[in-house]
Amino acid sequence: MAVLVTGGAGFIGSHVAEALLARGESVVVVDNLNSFYDPQLKRQNLEAIDHPQLKVIIGDLADGDIRAQGLEGVDRVIHLAASAGVRPSIEDPAKYVHQNLMIPTLLLESMRTAGISKLVWASSSSVYGDHLETPFAESASVMKPVSPYAATKVGGEALAACYNHLYGMDITSLRFFTVYGERQRPEMAIHKFARLMMQDRPIPQFGDGSTARDYTYIGDIVPGVLAALDRLGGCHVYNLGEAEMVRLDRLIAAIGQAIGKTPVVEVMPLQPGDVTRTNAAIQRAQTDLDYQPTTSIEGGLARFADWFLARPWLWQDT
Ligand SMILES: NC(=O)c1ccc[n+]([C@@H]2O[C@H](COP(=O)([O-])OP(=O)(O)OC[C@H]3O[C@@H](n4cnc5c(N)ncnc54)[C@H](O)[C@@H]3O)[C@@H](O)[C@H]2O)c1
Repeated sequence: MAVLVTGGAGFIGSHVAEALLARGESVVVVDNLNSFYDPQLKRQNLEAIDHPQLKVIIGDLADGDIRAQGLEGVDRVIHLAASAGVRPSIEDPAKYVHQNLMIPTLLLESMRTAGISKLVWASSSSVYGDHLETPFAESASVMKPVSPYAATKVGGEALAACYNHLYGMDITSLRFFTVYGERQRPEMAIHKFARLMMQDRPIPQFGDGSTARDYTYIGDIVPGVLAALDRLGGCHVYNLGEAEMVRLDRLIAAIGQAIGKTPVVEVMPLQPGDVTRTNAAIQRAQTDLDYQPTTSIEGGLARFADWFLARPWLWQDT
């Protein structure tokens, strides 16, 4: 039986699909290649993971026929298709509710009808809101999200609990903490800052540089996702982070070092919906999933830089 990876042409999805294929699984990807960022990059991701055991369905999960095709011959689902991004969710909250709540509901219903009961899906560290006590533990209250994006992820976790309660489905919600690395989305900070530096343009630094994030290297996240898939049973929530806080000013300097550029910083006010810090408590994932992130920010940025610098079209003509 195969694994359905929704959003498998995207950043995290393409890496997860690649890792499943590498361990001998059959994989079905459903992705609509939407234009949130350049669909050509998603086509390149699909080309990079091309494999005889990979079936790709280009279509929207809102379409019942596409969901039915995607679930054919599948016994487990990894749902990574979503609208990501905090700031755009403030511009268009209804789109985020459709994408991140309506579509998961439709998917859960289609799974139930097809007799498929195993789901791992992407929640987010955003559920913690501007939670000041670090590190963030899964037991903390998540009832104060500060963006529509975060609110939809809290809602998704509630849906997971509901489908587990009503139908006994095995569902694990993974709270990813800012993921980076090869194929990272171009509007995310690391990729965007690297592009601006290559174009000799200033880096917009929101705040005084003291805000801090837990940046998680993609190569550390993927084994966590696969372990969650392999240990599905009941309803669980796990943080997947690097468990290290990196200040924004340190991040900008480290990106410059990795790509060989001296950053020019333009200080801007903090943006609505932004949180001042994120930091994952990962003991639960360590215990239950044998999750062991090992990549320092400098090590991960070096790998990102190798990938990025080999692809000049990522900063030329954009
Ligand atoms: N990247 C991060 O740092 C991060 C952090 C926390 C949570 N997440 C979550 O992880 C998941 C994957 O994020 P990503 O960074 O890989 O994003 P991404 O945008 O690169 O990937 C999502 C993919 O889903 C596809 N998609 C979106 N809506 C669809 C629909 N209706 N039907 C079919 N396909 C659809 C998109 O075309 C895209 O290829 C998302 O749920 C995101 O919210 C990501």
